[in-house]
Amino acid sequence: MTNEEPEGEVISRPSIKAPKTREGIESLIRKLVKEHHTPLLLVMKSVLSKQFYAFRKKLPDVEPFYAIKSNPHPQILKHFVSLGCAFDVASAREIEWVLKAGAKPRNIIFANTIKSEQDLRYAADHRINMLTFDNELELYKIAKHCPRAKVILRIKVANIGSVVQLSLKFGADPEQATYLLKKAKTLGLQPEGVSFHVGSQCTNINNYIQALETSAKIFAEAESVGIDLKLLDIGGGFPIKHFDSEDGTVFEKMASTLRKELKRLFKGYAKLRIIAEPGRFFCGPAGILITQVVGKAFRDNKYYYYINDGVYQDFSGVLFDHCKYEFKSLKHGPKLLCTIAGPTCDSLDIISLTEELPELDINNVIYVKNIGAYSCASAVPAFNGFAPAKVLVI
Ligand SMILES: Cc1ncc(COP(=O)(O)O)c(C=O)c1O
Repeated sequence: MTNEEPEGEVISRPSIKAPKTREGIESLIRKLVKEHHTPLLLVMKSVLSKQFYAFRKKLPDVEPFYAIKSNPHPQILKHFVSLGCAFDVASAREIEWVLKAGAKPRNIIFANTIKSEQDLRYAADHRINMLTFDNELELYKIAKHCPRAKVILRIKVANIGSVVQLSLKFGADPEQATYLLKKAKTLGLQPEGVSFHVGSQCTNINNYIQALETSAKIFAEAESVGIDLKLLDIGGGFPIKHFDSEDGTVFEKMASTLRKELKRLFKGYAKLRIIAEPGRFFCGPAGILITQVVGKAFRDNKYYYYINDGVYQDFSGVLFDHCKYEFKSLKHGPKLLCTIAGPTCDSLDIISLTEELPELDINNVIYVKNIGAYSCASAVPAFNGFAPAKVLVI
């Protein structure tokens, strides 16, 4: 391990079965609080496996490359290596982490369309040869530093309704696709395929359908100029439940449409390899964040609960992932309007202005489920001296 790895204080244990009922979850939380104190981020390997196998089952022709940006914890990476999963990385350091976890270079895609020259050299030195790009200048950089690379063109697609809109920053105009693929060939690179990302937490199947239709057109255009594309990368974006009341079958329904559309649009490509880059879907449901109230005030006609984790730590998803969470307390009873804030001196550190919880006191436990993705991954190490939660992988 290097000092900079996102290891934190880690406790790893044999896998446990994830409790299914509220009583089961809360009795586990009570036990863990006594043993480990808080803040504590519990990651359940059994749920990581469940998500991986659900994806494989519903999209059997699609190979998942886990997008480690969502949670690069070493124990999570090792677990996905043990399941035979491949990986999507965004930087040289992420390459280093997945190789250290035991991933094979051929099971890694460097899927950040903007890569530094230094990171490109690192990728070449470590035999990572699947890279995405979305502009001409990037192709020159790749040709210089990774001359044997197989390049995958990321196109801009609709992100309508997705919680995180990635097309604001990435993706070539589909009209430029053939030009860019031909350019890759001219530069001695292997134009391998097309990729897209419909935006994170995407529940709008039309984004996928349109993106697949556009990709199919690019495949046909490329074929007409003598370029045989071999790979389609359907990106990430697969949604999860954040609230108990949400429909838990959204992914299943989307996968069923995706299977049909892939068959309809790509049936002519017998040797086509289809891959995806799920992040949130693989690790989000595996995480439970357990916190305690450290301060309480009454202002603006409601209680303010100050807890020992905030937007600078494991609730960083409130800012960076535009995420909303369901807060629960171990204490049950009539609910009152309240605000939940983090422990730092910054007024930005308000996790939610309007929640409903029973009246709580100092040390009472507040916990959040489905918070394994984009939480500790984007936490800062010690703002105001407050460290992110201890991570317990069981
Ligand atoms: C290139 C790329 N692939 C995959 C992902 C993972 O997306 P998600 O967590 O929505 O599955 C992201 C997220 O930002 C991304 O930028």
